[in-house]
Amino acid sequence: MAGSSFWGNIASHFRVSRTGPRESDPGTFGLPALPAGPVLEVKDLCRTYPPRRPGEAPVVANDHLSLTIHPGEVVALLGPNGAGKSTFLRQVAGQLCPTRGSIRVAGVDMVASPREAKEALSVIPQESTPYGGATVREFVRMIARLKGVTSAEAASTVTEILDRLDLRRDADAPIRNLSGGYQRRVLLAAALAGRRARLLLLDEPTTGLDPTSRRSVWGVVRELRDQGLGILLTTHYLEEAEALADRVVILRNGRVLADGSVPEVRRRFPAGGRLELRGLERLTDADRKEVLRRLQGRPVLSQGPTWMRLQLSDPFAPEALDIARSLTARGALVTLGTPSLEDVYLDLVESPEALV
Ligand SMILES: Nc1ncnc2c1ncn2[C@@H]1O[C@H](COP(=O)(O)OP(=O)(O)OP(=O)(O)O)[C@@H](O)[C@H]1O
Ligand SMILES: [Mg+2]
Repeated sequence: MAGSSFWGNIASHFRVSRTGPRESDPGTFGLPALPAGPVLEVKDLCRTYPPRRPGEAPVVANDHLSLTIHPGEVVALLGPNGAGKSTFLRQVAGQLCPTRGSIRVAGVDMVASPREAKEALSVIPQESTPYGGATVREFVRMIARLKGVTSAEAASTVTEILDRLDLRRDADAPIRNLSGGYQRRVLLAAALAGRRARLLLLDEPTTGLDPTSRRSVWGVVRELRDQGLGILLTTHYLEEAEALADRVVILRNGRVLADGSVPEVRRRFPAGGRLELRGLERLTDADRKEVLRRLQGRPVLSQGPTWMRLQLSDPFAPEALDIARSLTARGALVTLGTPSLEDVYLDLVESPEALV
């Protein structure tokens, strides 16, 4: 299974040196004491791709992004498809050259010293199946060895990791025979197999996982954070960001729309509640006019042709409930409540004013 292109593939995916294990390093995948200072410092990062069609402008995928992550911090990068999340992660991982700006991983400049910088990180790309015909155990063991776990320690380290990710039952199955969700777990297991990583990059780590598997990945992420790793992950699941992230960064069109803890990002929006209306196309013109009259004066947070989101001081006041009842009777879909992170996210990315 270990043809040279396969090894090259593995090495480039997991950013490991091929110089072999360092026998003097302590064993286990527990991490050695961490140096002080940020694990990631990105300043003013820009990345442009060539135009999609001749004569069009180049695609600005990352537009002056700055981000710092400290040891023991989980940052979730959020944003709609095409917002620039994977482009950002791939530059941080050293897989893509920045158009401008700087990236330091554990203090090491990624552009000037990519080899050294890559040693300090582990990455799970959005799409990846660099397995060849390897079994789960063979693959994780190989990554562990590449990342410096000694031959004597490898068996117990790998068994421990496979247990944690509930992969023991499939340990001797070829990875390509596993379901998509279990293949994501194998990638996470491989990322855990290194000991020198200070920064873990996870591009949509739980996409395709069932709710139980997702929670088991969250558990592993929390454990690694508690061990002092800095973790940067992308996700389309807002509840995942709420459950895991110390900070969320919301991107749109390559720019930062919001950056802060979940409560901070939520505080950017006025306190109180909101009324969300969908299916306005189901109302007659006369009903729509009546609705707009009753809602007049209430701040519109965002709206589209068939939906709108409004600010309400008290979403459970009798008047709000009355409006909701009468709209529901007329065929609209009505949601009343206090804003979740998902509401804030939708307000930001769907609001025309947020167009950048
Ligand atoms: N290799 C490439 N060549 C040209 N354009 C690219 C390339 N990779 C990404 N892009 C463009 O850059 C922009 C950002 O893409 P990116 O993959 O970073 O988004 P994303 O936020 O990860 O999206 P998703 O949520 O769909 O994974 C998009 O407009 C995309 O079409
Ligand atoms: Mg992506």
